[in-house]
Amino acid sequence: MAKNAAQQIVLDDELDELIDGLRQPEMMISPKYFYDERGSQLFDEITRLPEYYPTETELGIMQDNIDEIASLVGRQASLIEFGSGSSLKTRILLDHLDELAAYVPVDISEDHLLQSAQQIREEFPDLDVLPVVADFTQPFRLPTPRVMPVRNVVYFPGSTIGNFTNDGAQELLAVMHGEAGADGALLIGVDLQKDPAIIEAAYNDSAGVTAEFNLNMLRHLNREFGADFDVDAFTHSAEYNEDEGRIEIRLVSEQDQEFTVGSQSFSIGKDEAILTEYSHKYTLDGFAAMAETAGFRVKRVWTDAGRLFSVQYLVRD
Ligand code: TRP
Repeated sequence: MAKNAAQQIVLDDELDELIDGLRQPEMMISPKYFYDERGSQLFDEITRLPEYYPTETELGIMQDNIDEIASLVGRQASLIEFGSGSSLKTRILLDHLDELAAYVPVDISEDHLLQSAQQIREEFPDLDVLPVVADFTQPFRLPTPRVMPVRNVVYFPGSTIGNFTNDGAQELLAVMHGEAGADGALLIGVDLQKDPAIIEAAYNDSAGVTAEFNLNMLRHLNREFGADFDVDAFTHSAEYNEDEGRIEIRLVSEQDQEFTVGSQSFSIGKDEAILTEYSHKYTLDGFAAMAETAGFRVKRVWTDAGRLFSVQYLVRD
């Protein structure tokens, strides 16, 4: 596909970043490359797998506690979603929150954001939907709704916080604290530490969808950056690291091999790996301590009967 000059510059920067990751002591590739069209479809499939408990569990927690959630959020709030907001969980909130001043989805991927914002407008014609194209890991300017919000409530579902390093998560919470403003709050999905067998099964499903999702990243890079990964010579690995409290997802090389990305060639030995994602799991105390460092106090925690997952309402001190 022919690229215009601006697109080419973005690609060059991304290529530099990609090469930089592969030059680290442990090779790594940013998880953002999971999500080409096929990757997004596969992730959608993951959320419906019997072993992948987070999506369904979080949804259940939202449904079971929506009245209490709505009363904590209060009337005429502005709901600021970090992410493009295409999930069923967002719709449950929009259905139940009282006289929302605005719904502000924030995402870096403009096409996807505007498409899902349009979808939300059609489903909620009276709602002031104000999408913001931004990298939400950095402070950004909020739009001004038609109606003055009573408070800002940041929404961050899916335990996506767990995909950041601890430092990254801490910084992101600080950005959320800033965007929430005085009297603001954060409603966040947080996956919990539990029997590692349950966690590992969630990322090693028996149908092999997660493996396919992980490997698809290499196909994406071959297509987008003219890389030449031999996709069949890598295997999916997801292991729970108990010391760090996180699942670590890698692509393991099945043989000594070489590959090129841009003009650079790399060699990787048999059983060596490329790190593609972390997914941190938290204790309630551990998460509260992290939130506190960012200036949030945990006001309410909802969990499921099996204590697999939590939804938490944090307020600014
Ligand atoms: N945010 C999801 C999670 O950490 C992403 C995810 C689910 C994922 N399954 C995966 C990422 C498999 C990489 C590989 O649970």
